[in-house]
Amino acid sequence: MKKLKIITHPLVQHYLSIMRDKKTSKAEFKESLDKISYIVAAETFAALSLGNKSVNTPFKKIVGKKVNETVVLLPILRAGLGLTKGFTDLYPEILTSHIGIYRDEKTLKPVQYYFRFPKIQNKKDATVIILDPMIATGGSVIFTIECLLNMGIRKIKVVSLLCAPEGIDAIEKSFRSNEKKHIEITSCSLDEKLNEKGYIIPGLGDAGDRIFGT
Ligand code: PRP
Ligand code: URA
Repeated sequence: MKKLKIITHPLVQHYLSIMRDKKTSKAEFKESLDKISYIVAAETFAALSLGNKSVNTPFKKIVGKKVNETVVLLPILRAGLGLTKGFTDLYPEILTSHIGIYRDEKTLKPVQYYFRFPKIQNKKDATVIILDPMIATGGSVIFTIECLLNMGIRKIKVVSLLCAPEGIDAIEKSFRSNEKKHIEITSCSLDEKLNEKGYIIPGLGDAGDRIFGT
């Protein structure tokens, strides 16, 4: 798998600081996340593969371009839903799958409660983009990647807002030997560490609670 890529775009860092502030309102938190999601989506989509298509302009016929791969968005419920806007607005043809996972508060292990995936052909050529704003222990992402690999998916991108070194190390260790699988992780910040309760430090608190106001 490839190493972690950090998005250093100034507007991402600007809106991320708004999100980290504990005084930021629920509305401003979600607005900032929506704005970041467009930039992160554009970066992620930059690697889409194109095919040719014939286009008749008002003056002549040309060879235009169109995306020629199947792309599936897979937000990890709940908080992953908060990152979807930029992806579905920029490329509405994207298929959206959902996986429901929560962390057991005591063990911090992922517990799955839902999974729906579209029926697609050529699974090994499709790209799946996992959305999870917070990679803490990495357990939720590792569980999701394992589900996808078991289904025959080979091209996997993980997109997050914040990650902890502990989570990135755990993901890299889990999939180190998967040379034939293409797994990439993109985030907007590699934070310092996890605290004793598994929260990212300095972080932004509980992403799901701040997005949905619970
Ligand atoms: C949070 C977050 C991630 C997960 C990260 O989900 O949204 O999915 O924790 O932690 P991990 O890397 O240690 O697995 P949470 O369990 O709070 O559920 P929620 O999204 O429904 O709030
Ligand atoms: N999940 C969150 O929402 N925040 C953290 O800091 C860690 C896991």
